[in-house]
Amino acid sequence: MRQAETPTADPVQSEANPAVWSGRFSEPVSERVKRYTASIPFDWRLAPFDIQGSLAHAAMLQHVGVLSAQDLADIRRGLGEILVDFENGRFTWNLDDEDIHFNIERALTRKVGDAGKRLHTGRSRNDQVATDVRLWLRDAIDRILELNIQARRALIDLAEHHAATVMPGFTHLQAAQPVTFGHHMLAWQEMLTRDHERLVDCRRRVNRLPLGAAALAGTSFPIDREMVARELGFDGVCENSLDAVSDRDFAIEFLAAGALIMTHFSRMAEELVIWMTPRFGFIDLADRFCTGSSIMPQKKNPDVPELMRGKTGRMNGHLISLLTLMKGQPLAYNKDNQEDKEPLFDAVDTLVDTLAIFAEMMGSHIDEQTGKRVFHVTVKAERMRQAAVEGFATATDLADYLVKKGLPFREAHEAVARAVRAAEQKGCDLADLSLIELQAFSPLVEADIYAVLTLEGSLAARDHLGGTAPNQVRAAVARARARLG
Ligand code: ARG
Repeated sequence: MRQAETPTADPVQSEANPAVWSGRFSEPVSERVKRYTASIPFDWRLAPFDIQGSLAHAAMLQHVGVLSAQDLADIRRGLGEILVDFENGRFTWNLDDEDIHFNIERALTRKVGDAGKRLHTGRSRNDQVATDVRLWLRDAIDRILELNIQARRALIDLAEHHAATVMPGFTHLQAAQPVTFGHHMLAWQEMLTRDHERLVDCRRRVNRLPLGAAALAGTSFPIDREMVARELGFDGVCENSLDAVSDRDFAIEFLAAGALIMTHFSRMAEELVIWMTPRFGFIDLADRFCTGSSIMPQKKNPDVPELMRGKTGRMNGHLISLLTLMKGQPLAYNKDNQEDKEPLFDAVDTLVDTLAIFAEMMGSHIDEQTGKRVFHVTVKAERMRQAAVEGFATATDLADYLVKKGLPFREAHEAVARAVRAAEQKGCDLADLSLIELQAFSPLVEADIYAVLTLEGSLAARDHLGGTAPNQVRAAVARARARLG
């Protein structure tokens, strides 16, 4: 929780503020129970959305004749002031008022009197909180989608710049075949594209209005739910009142999408960490994304990618929290559901920070002096080329060459394996073996083999949709940009 934005607790407590529902009870709850059951220490974050929902509800009540025009005007004025207080950090909450809904209602009543007490007509905190969480989550999804696009733009720019920069591609973390760094960046970009699609799909189910379900069964007031839905920008209403106040599957879905997003970032981060070890030396991250060691002066540690990898754990945990929270709950609302908030809030904070930092770390800017694009990550092309050479990354190309000359693939595989062993013993690349030496492994080898054995020849040969040939990478860059619009 970011401290600067955390409203402070109101020191005025207890006797002055008996609980809203206290009329039915013979004694107040203990301090411990009050703390245990309250959600205001964290759900204060819903305040702007709670106000937005209340404004729409009040406007509808006035429209259908339940509230007077004067009541609506008072409610609008009071909620407007509370929103300004919240935005200026002047909103204070009180634990006696349990949650954000009661705290705002109390503040409103303090400001405008009876109109504040009429606002809750025809609704319950059950449909109110479900509405607030959906409004809050919709807004969070939109922010995450925007950051996803920024991250993808960064990767696409890098891919374009490095469309022909050779690196070894890996399987089993062993050098396998040459690819381009641009091709690798576009692989990441594809992962992030699917993350975007998943969130857009999830957003459709988030964007339904629960308000009007009231406590669980609907209300006897002549409400117009469609009007409220339109006012709040929902695509439609939740069609069953019991389901509307009860289910949090939309939040679980979001966390599942979030867990996949973090899984992707964890994998990318892992590659960045590996590439940055001096043994690989493929890249260097800007200093502002790394830290030093308190004892070893030579160290530059990739803390940011390591944390991206590490924070995946808490995202997976949040998903499991909500799945477990939901399991076994009878219809309709149960207080269990109050526990949906902290995992959701932390998930969104984690995703927003991770995406924003990644977009910056892999991003670029235009230098004002030179007018040139400066990439924040340093790509060490020479080191990557050297690693591709040392890994005999064109061995498959030699085998394919022999197959094209008529040798069955299994025999070609065998011949090339022997050639690799010979090159390894000599301490050179396949392309450094003489024609005579190569012909010892297969008489089919001719002088044109050298075009195939070079890294560039190998790349250029993979010239089809989805392949690593530089012109294919450039075409993929253009397609990816077009998709982003
Ligand atoms: N703070 C509660 C929550 O987050 C609001 C709804 C409470 N409803 C109730 N009937 N206790 O779920």
